[in-house]
Order: sequence, then structure tokens, then C-alpha cells
Amino acid sequence: MIDRGVRDTNRALHWRGNGRVKLLEGGRTSKGMSRRAKTVSAVGATLLAVSLSCATQPGDWLGRRVPQTQHGAAAMDYQAREYDKLIPPADAAQVPCRIDPHIWDAFVPADNKMTVERVALGKKLFFDKRLSKDGTVSCATCHDVTRAFTDQRPTSEGIGDKLGRRNAPTTMNAVLLQTMFLDGRSPTLDHQATLPIINPIEMGFPDGESAARAIAGDVEYQQMFKKAYGREVNYEDIGRAIGAFERTMVFLDSPFRRYLEGDPKAISADAKEGWRLFNEKARCVSCHHMSLSNPLGTDNRFHNIGVSARHQDFEELARRGLKALQEDPSERRLEELALNTDMSELGRFMATKNRSDIGAFRTSMLLNVGITPPYMHDGTVTTLWDVMDHYNKGGEANLFLDGGMEPLALTEKEIDQVVAFLFTLTDLRFAEENQRQMRLQRAQALKSRPLRDDQTANRKKLAFEDRIRK
Ligand code: HEC
Ligand code: HEC
Repeated sequence: MIDRGVRDTNRALHWRGNGRVKLLEGGRTSKGMSRRAKTVSAVGATLLAVSLSCATQPGDWLGRRVPQTQHGAAAMDYQAREYDKLIPPADAAQVPCRIDPHIWDAFVPADNKMTVERVALGKKLFFDKRLSKDGTVSCATCHDVTRAFTDQRPTSEGIGDKLGRRNAPTTMNAVLLQTMFLDGRSPTLDHQATLPIINPIEMGFPDGESAARAIAGDVEYQQMFKKAYGREVNYEDIGRAIGAFERTMVFLDSPFRRYLEGDPKAISADAKEGWRLFNEKARCVSCHHMSLSNPLGTDNRFHNIGVSARHQDFEELARRGLKALQEDPSERRLEELALNTDMSELGRFMATKNRSDIGAFRTSMLLNVGITPPYMHDGTVTTLWDVMDHYNKGGEANLFLDGGMEPLALTEKEIDQVVAFLFTLTDLRFAEENQRQMRLQRAQALKSRPLRDDQTANRKKLAFEDRIRK
């Protein structure tokens, strides 16, 4: 069995206070570090390795012609090389830069300690299209290194060109989340990684054994599995190895973080004002917790913010969802319902069957959000300006709407400032892509703002009126 140990839900992510770590004799560090980091520096050897992996370099696929493969993804060998530039293989099995090694332990399952062999195996699997039934889809088809580890499409395309109902979240920093999937139905990376392989519209194998058989004849794999786990090729170790590889995808070094650490010039005056609004008038912080010790910007909880409420009869859908789960409660069936049917919109409810979870999705992390459009679980929100329009009018009214959603009366200038702030959350390795996205999104927002509703945002009209007028 894969280790399904659920993490302590309230564990804050403590990361080291300052990027300017100075190494002193004996691998000890001192200057410019927080008190907590100094305590941690007792683990000299680990810390030395940690600080070496702190160098950031810009992603450089922009302006270059990227060779493509099926479903519009960048060619797999190209992606693998780009990945090595972001995370040098020599650093991959180390504690990621800026994470306290003790805290890191909590994110690594006891049965899957990080080793160079496991990460290398996971990397090969992540980019291997043989893990799909028709040989056209790998994890990296939808979590493409050159597209911020997502596919930048509204919803993803799997085998047979089939479109799912959900937007592919980035795998960057997924290791630091407390649950996997937008409805939290999987507890860990290692467990999650086994599921796309048997999802009928993603990679499409009928079961884990047939997926393992598809690669078991490869002598290189046989040796790599032996070295990594001491066993033959098998489905659960496929999940573990991919999980180990995904644990290397930590990208926390944003201008905003540098600002919080005390560099006043790291972000613009508008972005600073946006951060103030985020915590006050715009109320974002009530769900998107964000601080040095909680860098992702999510409370890891599930809320209905009414993204798809415009076109849903949630009550009727919930009845059908329960019936479908009674008929076939298997994991594969739940995967299918979540990704391939209109019951996808029930969100967290399909995992818990609690009425209060109808239409609720996990609060998205906001780190790197500038480069992962389009937005929300169904990818229907095109730009960060549209996201702001959605919140400004208090979301979309429905019976299950979270109590924290209400009209915000933000002015156009204030919206621009919150957006400026959101674009400071991108890791510096993607600075160029961040600039490009900002230009594209601004141009799009100037053309069209489909969710904008100033009347409701300023309470000239009340949100429930449309519903009762029907
Ligand atoms: C056809 C596209 C597609 C393929 C192939 C695919 N994914 Fe995903 N991935 C998605 C979508 C869509 C979701 C969101 C599904 C949901 O929430 O129900 C997702 C979610 C995830 C998540 C959860 C992230 C979070 O924020 O909770 C991880 C991790 C992940 N995928 C890793 C992988 C790995 C590893 C593979 C290969 C074994 C893979 N994916 C293959 C589309 C894909
Ligand atoms: C009541 C809780 C709540 C509040 C308040 C809230 N959010 Fe969210 N946010 C969520 C949830 C839940 C999602 C995911 C919804 C979905 O996928 O359908 C989300 C998604 C997002 C996304 C999309 C991310 C992505 O990758 O798709 C952005 C951006 C965002 N929120 C920014 C903000 C900003 C800015 C504010 C303040 C104006 C805010 N949120 C207020 C809960 C909240």
C-alpha cells in the first residue's frame, strides 16, 4: 500500500527567513537568518546542501521555438532538459532551498525517503508516454515544464483527444499542499500519481497492473526500479517514484517573498497597495492565508465561491452524484465522475458527501499564479482581472455560497493594484514568462471583461435578485 498518512492540517510551513545565507566554518550559518533558522543550522551538513541549491536562474524557453509533440505539449526530451536547468539533478534529492529540513521531513513519506535513484526514476516516468494506453500522453503532457507545469488550457486533453472537465493545476509546490486534487480526494503525491494512469480520459489503462506491464520489459526500468526500491517494476512504486520526483518541484523564491524578508524595493508601490487591499478591503486573506510561514497562499480548505453556479442546479446534481457513488464506490469510478461528467461541479461533495461541501473546491495556492492561466477548477476565468471581477461582485449567488463572499466595491485602480500584487508571487526563475503573461492578460482584459458587474459590486443591485426573478 502507498503511505496514505495525512499530514497535520494546521502545520504551518516554516521556511528559512532569508536568502542571503552566509556559510561560516564547519558549515554553520548565521548572518541574516531568522532565530528559527539558526536553531536549524545545527544540522550543518543538510543546511550546506540546502544553501547550494538556492541559486536562481531564469527560464529560457521564451523566444525559442519549442519542439512539440502530441496534444500540443512540448517535446518530452526538450522538457526534461529544461527541467534540469531549473533544478540541477545534483540538487534534486536535497532538502529544497528555503525549507526548514525538519519541516521538510513531514512532507516526505516514511516509505519513500528522497534518494537520487528514486528521483531519477520518477523523472523518467513523468516524461514517459508509454504510461498511457495509446502512447501519446505522459504526466508532462498536462504538466508541461515550458508552461509552468500545467497546460495553460481551460481543461486538459488526454488519450484519444478527450477533454476533461477540470483545469490542470500546476505541479509546482504541490508537495506543500495538504491534500491532492481540487476536491482533495487524494491524500498524498505518491497516491495521486497512480490515478491519472488509470483515468479513462487521461492515460487510460484499465488497471495498475497493465500500466506496469507496459514498461516492465524495458531493461533500463528493471534496473532503475531495483536500485530505487529493491523490487521489480510495479504500479505502487511507479506512484512513489513520481511522487519523489514531484517533491523536487519547489518554487518559492518570488519578489513578494523578498519584500516580506525586508527588501522594500523588491515590489512596486502598486503591488504594496495591492497587498494591503488583499488583507483588508478585498478580504482575500480570509481564505488565501499568506505569510512567510505560509507561503502558498491557501488555507487548504474547501469553499464554494460560485464559479460554476451560473449554470448549475446543484441540488439535482448532488442527488445524481450520490446515486452514482452508491452504484459503484470504486476509486476508478470516482476518478471518472470527477473528471469526465457534469458531477465534476459538485467538487468536494463527491469526496465527503457532506451537503455543505456542494460546489466547494480547495482554495487555490497563489504562488506562481501569474503564469498558470486560465483560472478556477473549470478554467473558465481567463485573466487575473476576470478573477477580480468575480470577487468584486461577491462571487456567483447560490445556496451553498461561502459566507466569506460578498460584494467588495473595489475601484478599477484597486483591482489593478491587487492584480499587480498577484504578479509579484511568481518565482524569479520564471520572471520573463511572468512579464509575458502580464502583457497578454492586460491586453485581453482591455478587450473584454465578461464577469464585470459594477452594479452588484457596489450594491446598487443585490446578488440574489437574478435568481428570484426567474
Ligand atoms: C490529461 C491531462 C493530465 C495528465 C495526463 C495528468 N494530469 Fe495531473 N492533473 C490534471 C488535472 C485536470 C488535474 C485536476 C484534477 C482534479 O482536481 O480532479 C490534475 C491534478 C494533478 C495533481 C494535483 C495538484 C493539486 O493542486 O492538487 C498532481 C500532483 C498531478 N495532477 C500530477 C500528475 C502526474 C504525476 C501525472 C502522471 C502520472 C499527471 N498528473 C497526469 C491533468 C492531467
Ligand atoms: C471564501 C474564500 C475565498 C476568498 C474570500 C477568496 N478566494 Fe480566491 N479562491 C478560493 C477558492 C475556493 C478558489 C478555487 C475555486 C475554484 O477552483 O473553483 C479560489 C481561486 C482563486 C484564484 C484562481 C487560482 C487558479 O490557479 O485557478 C485566484 C487568482 C484567487 N482565488 C485570488 C483571490 C483574490 C485576489 C481574492 C480577494 C479578492 C480571493 N481569491 C478571495 C477561495 C477564496
